[in-house]
Amino acid sequence: MKKIILNKNENHYGPSPQCIKILHNFDPRHMFFYNSQKQSDLFTALFRYYSIAEDKIILGYGLEDILRTLFDRLLPKKDCVVTSDFHFSYYTDYLQKIHITTYTFRCVEKKHIFSFDVEDCITQCKKNNPKLLLITSPNNPTGHVITVKELIQILNAINKNTIVVLDEAYYGFDQHYDEQAFLSLLNTYANVMILRTFSKYYALAGLRIGFALCGTNVIQNIGYQQRYLGFSRILEEVAVAALHSPEYYQKNAKKIIKTREEFIQQINMLNHFTAFESKANFVCIKIHTPAMKKIKKEQKQQVQIGKLIMKQYMRVTMTTPEMVHDFYIFLKNIDKKINI
Ligand SMILES: Cc1ncc(COP(=O)(O)O)c(C=O)c1O
Repeated sequence: MKKIILNKNENHYGPSPQCIKILHNFDPRHMFFYNSQKQSDLFTALFRYYSIAEDKIILGYGLEDILRTLFDRLLPKKDCVVTSDFHFSYYTDYLQKIHITTYTFRCVEKKHIFSFDVEDCITQCKKNNPKLLLITSPNNPTGHVITVKELIQILNAINKNTIVVLDEAYYGFDQHYDEQAFLSLLNTYANVMILRTFSKYYALAGLRIGFALCGTNVIQNIGYQQRYLGFSRILEEVAVAALHSPEYYQKNAKKIIKTREEFIQQINMLNHFTAFESKANFVCIKIHTPAMKKIKKEQKQQVQIGKLIMKQYMRVTMTTPEMVHDFYIFLKNIDKKINI
């Protein structure tokens, strides 16, 4: 059986030809001089792209770097964090290590879709007064999104000193996403931070580039110090080329969305699996009890790998139709064996 690993939500279509060209033509002199924020092409490109002042942009070596920077500013015993019960495991893995308490609000599971329990989110924030509220949209691992109306409801209800971090690592795979409505929150709410990465949509996970767009009070509130000696020049140049290749990425995102929708339909025809609606480049699947043992055995043999989450669920990356189809056949065969 062919080995297929679909557990990290990487984008197998790869970066745009313009990005590859930058790497081929990279000027070696750019390796031995620092880049300051003032000269930074990526700051300028992001500033133009998002019409946001350069001093409200944070660059990081992946969102992991930005999240870690945020988390490291929290004080054990004093500060806490609120996030959803289904969340990116890195949040709590890291927060636990640095002894920061995390409270969760519910994600509600309906037949084929999850949603955030907005009332519970507000209740948890009012009760615990967190320093950070982390909302991931599309959410990892469930794939569901928050609407701008829901986010405004939360922002209006909670303490303005809570920094609301909207982690949009999976930006770009939702045809109905109202980007302007979300970005305009940065002008209205001083405590909002929107996180984006070049790892998923732009297929540059191995280069580690992420950024944050911040409301007026965020940088001051977290005491963030911009890099004195700048950011990696080679990463900046590749990232700028990615921002300048919209057609390439839109075309690939459309392919991923088509593959995702077909996969969800196929999975929901099986008896022992349920696929949930997703706006990301992955799909969350519920594994019904009889299929679980078989899946675990296969995972051990390291043949077909999705990411197992919270006992009953699996998150499967959507990539090329061929790889996703092979994964579907793997699940279909398990389903058939159980039915016999
Ligand atoms: C929700 C979420 N946020 C952040 C990250 C980290 O992204 P990066 O590759 O930019 O570090 C991931 C990576 O999978 C993620 O799923």
